Amino acid sequence: MGSKTELLSRIAAGDGHGENSSYFEGWKAYDKNPFDLRNNRGGVIQMGLAENQLSLDLIEEWSKAHPEASICTAEGVSQFRRIANFQDYHGLPEFRQAMAQFMGQVRGWKATFDPDRIVMAGGATGAQETLAFCLANPGEAFLVPTPYYPGFDRDCCWRSGIKLLPIECHSSNDFRLTKEALASAYESAQSKGIRVKGILITNPSNPLGTLTDRATLVMLASFATEHRIHLICDEIYAGSVFANKPEYVSIAEVMEHDAPGCDRDLVHIAYSLSKDFGLPGFRVGIVYSYNDAVVDCARKMSSFGLVSSQTQHFLARMLSDEPFMARFLRESASRLAARHERFTEGLREVGIGCLRSNAGLFSWMDLRGMLGNKKSTAEAELELWRVIVHEVKLNVSPGTSFHCGEPGWFRVCHANMDDETMEVALDRIRLFVRRHQQQKAKAQRWAAKGQLRLSLPRHGAMASQYLNSPMGLLSPQSPLVHAAS
Ligand SMILES: Cc1ncc(COP(=O)(O)O)c(C=O)c1O
Repeated sequence: MGSKTELLSRIAAGDGHGENSSYFEGWKAYDKNPFDLRNNRGGVIQMGLAENQLSLDLIEEWSKAHPEASICTAEGVSQFRRIANFQDYHGLPEFRQAMAQFMGQVRGWKATFDPDRIVMAGGATGAQETLAFCLANPGEAFLVPTPYYPGFDRDCCWRSGIKLLPIECHSSNDFRLTKEALASAYESAQSKGIRVKGILITNPSNPLGTLTDRATLVMLASFATEHRIHLICDEIYAGSVFANKPEYVSIAEVMEHDAPGCDRDLVHIAYSLSKDFGLPGFRVGIVYSYNDAVVDCARKMSSFGLVSSQTQHFLARMLSDEPFMARFLRESASRLAARHERFTEGLREVGIGCLRSNAGLFSWMDLRGMLGNKKSTAEAELELWRVIVHEVKLNVSPGTSFHCGEPGWFRVCHANMDDETMEVALDRIRLFVRRHQQQKAKAQRWAAKGQLRLSLPRHGAMASQYLNSPMGLLSPQSPLVHAAS
C-alpha cells in the first residue's frame, strides 16, 4: 500500500503553508495557557498578533448610531433582498466608490483612486496571492527586503509556486532598502538562472514599523521600469501611521506626482481593512492595479475570495461617512502613538531599545545584548526566544521568523490588548532584563575573582553558564512570572 500522501496533490501533501514551522511553538504555548487579567494572570500574553483593538469602540459606536447600515435590523431590512442576492464579482458600486474615497483619505488626499480599479480579495492575504497568480509563473521570483512579514511565504508562494528572494537589509542603516542591495539581489537571482518578476515591499513595514521614503519609492519604480519587472506595494498599515515625521508617502502619490518616466502598468497595491480598522474577520482585501489587464484578471479571480455583500453594504455606508472617518483616523493614530510611547519608554527604563518607528501595531525590539557568548547566531536567538515564550510567558516573534539576517531582534505587538495587560507584559520584560543584568554582573564578578584566586574552573564554569545562555537566567520554576503578573 502506498503512502497516504500519494493520493493527494503536491500542494496538499507539501508543507508550503508554514503551519508546522517551529515558530508556531509560541502560538501553541499561548493556546495552551492564555493570559487573562482576572482568571489567569500567570498565563502567556499574546504579543505575536498584529491586531488593532485600540479603536474598535469607535466603530461600535458608529454602528449603533447607524442601524440602517446593517440589513439585519428593522431599519435596514428593506435592503435585505437586494443585498443578499448580490453576487457580481465587480462588487457593489457604492462599496467600490466608498473604498476608493477612503483609500485617498487614508493617504491624506495626496493620491486619488479610481473605483473601477478596486478589486476585492479575501484580505490582503488573498490580494497578495491574486497578484502572485497574475504577475508570475511557478519558479519565477519576487525580491523582498528583509526583514519581511512571514505570511508572504504562504500568500505568494504556497499555491502559486513562485519564489521569494531576500534583499538583505541591515541595522547599520536602520534596515533601509538601498539600490545597491536591490541590484545585488537581482543579479544574484539572475546568476542562478531565476527569472525575477517583481519587487514586493511593505510600506509601512511589518515588522519594522518604519516608512519607505519618497526617493526610495522613486528609485524602486525606476528600477522596475528599467528592468521590466513589477513593483508590488503592500500598504496594509497606511492608516496606522501615528506620527508625521517622517511623513508617509504612498506609491500611489509617487505615481501621480513624482515618477513621470515610470511605467504605471508595473505598479500594484495590496490593501485591506484588517489593520487600520482592526477588522481582520471581515476579510476585506483590495488589489489596486494601474494595469488594465491585471485589474481584469484579478477581478475574474476575485470569485475565489469575494467580500460578502452584507459586509460591502455596511462598509459602503461607514467608509463614505467622511467626518466619521476623519475622526476615526485621528483618534486611532493618537491611541497608537500613546501605546507605542508607553511601551518603548517602559523598555528604555531597563536599557532596551527599539528601532525608531512611527507606524504599525508593534515595536522591533533590540535584544542583541542578551544573546550571551554565542552572539549573532540564529540558534542563540531561538534559545532566548524560548525562554521568553516559556518562562517570561510572552509570545513575541523572533527576527529569524521574519528572515532577518541579524539575530537578536524581536517583534513585539502591543495594540491587541488593553492597557493593564500591556503593563503586565512590560513588567515581565523589565524584570527579566533586570535579572539578566544582575546575573551577568555577578558572573563577571565571579570570573574576575576566580582569576584572582586561581580557582577559575569552578567559578569560570558557572560564569560562562550565565554568560553563554539565556537559559541560565531562569529556573523552570522561575518565580518571575508570578512576581511580575
Ligand atoms: C504586511 C501584511 N500583509 C498582509 C497581511 C494579511 O492581512 P489580512 O488579514 O488582510 O489577510 C498582514 C497581516 O499581518 C500583514 O502584516
